[in-house]
Amino acid sequence: MIKDSEKELEKKFQEKIDRGESIEPKDWMPERYRKQLIRMMGQHAHSEIVGMLPEGNWITRAPSLKRKAVLLAKVQDEAGHGLYIYSGTETLGISRDEMNSELLSGKAKYSSIFNYPTLSWADMGAIGWLVDGAAIINQTALAKCSYGPYARAMVRICKEENFHHKQGYEILATLMKGTEEQREMAQDAVNRFWWPSMMMFGPSDKNSPNSEELMRWKVKRFSNDELRQRFVDRTVPQAENIGIKIPDPALKWNEETRHYDFGEINWEEFYNVISGKGICNKERLQARNEAHDKGAWVREAALAYAKKQASQEFAA
Ligand code: 3HC
Repeated sequence: MIKDSEKELEKKFQEKIDRGESIEPKDWMPERYRKQLIRMMGQHAHSEIVGMLPEGNWITRAPSLKRKAVLLAKVQDEAGHGLYIYSGTETLGISRDEMNSELLSGKAKYSSIFNYPTLSWADMGAIGWLVDGAAIINQTALAKCSYGPYARAMVRICKEENFHHKQGYEILATLMKGTEEQREMAQDAVNRFWWPSMMMFGPSDKNSPNSEELMRWKVKRFSNDELRQRFVDRTVPQAENIGIKIPDPALKWNEETRHYDFGEINWEEFYNVISGKGICNKERLQARNEAHDKGAWVREAALAYAKKQASQEFAA
């Protein structure tokens, strides 16, 4: 049987994508497709794990037992999302150790948003409402992506993100019904997290080197700017509902396009943060490396136990 040429295989692969069929781990795929998915899924998983740090900072400072329990549940969820997406990424032939060392060495990216400090309790509200709100927009689209394991992981993760989003919005709504000082704290948090949340969707479409290919392969179902616009259109009415001001003087409803017009993103800040020069980049990487080193004994014990189990089974 004559083997299909690479060209023929690529043609059949694209036809499968165009028919809306999902690509599974055992299917033939262009090496470039595999590499793109490893990059995107790996960064997504890293984002979930690093994203635990800014919120973890406030678990011991939560204003009530209820808030502490909810925040604890959210941070645990993020850990689960990370492990879930790492497992999905491993189906592409990269090991967990390789991904972990890429993160710890600073080689792999994770979402820019987690390189900002969390300065007050209200930041937990801003993160839940804005950051998880942006993630929901992005991940709902990814739930229809062509790579089966990724799409299926997103279905479950989006359900939990909705709880994260609601609890964040409720924190801010409560503060906005509080004292003048509490209202100022909520507004200050949104002032600091609005633009970094807008940056989560990536550079503008014209400056997005990966989008064309990812859209052709239906990994990305919408462009960076389309999802960013969807985030603004959905979030502004929610802000108005609780009396929070979006820190963008150019924000204005456009009757013609039926969307909000908004101001220019500070792209210099964006590229600074994603190239490691953000406020917390060093601190986040150091925390991850320390956690990894402190956890070495757990890995060794688990490995020793697994080896003992295996040798006993072999001897039996
Ligand atoms: N933070 C860090 N790097 C970013 C970025 C961001 N917000 N946005 C873009 N970049 C990087 C890209 O990784 C790429 O660099 P690389 O080629 O070296 O990897 C470069 O900037 C150019 O951007 P592109 O638009 O060409 O890259 P993509 O097509 O990959 O689009 C993306 C970027 C929209 C982030 C896309 O990768 C994506 O949708 N990823 C999956 C979702 C994800 O990672 N979400 C993380 C959010 S945090 C989260 O979900 C946790 C939740 O609990 C809040």
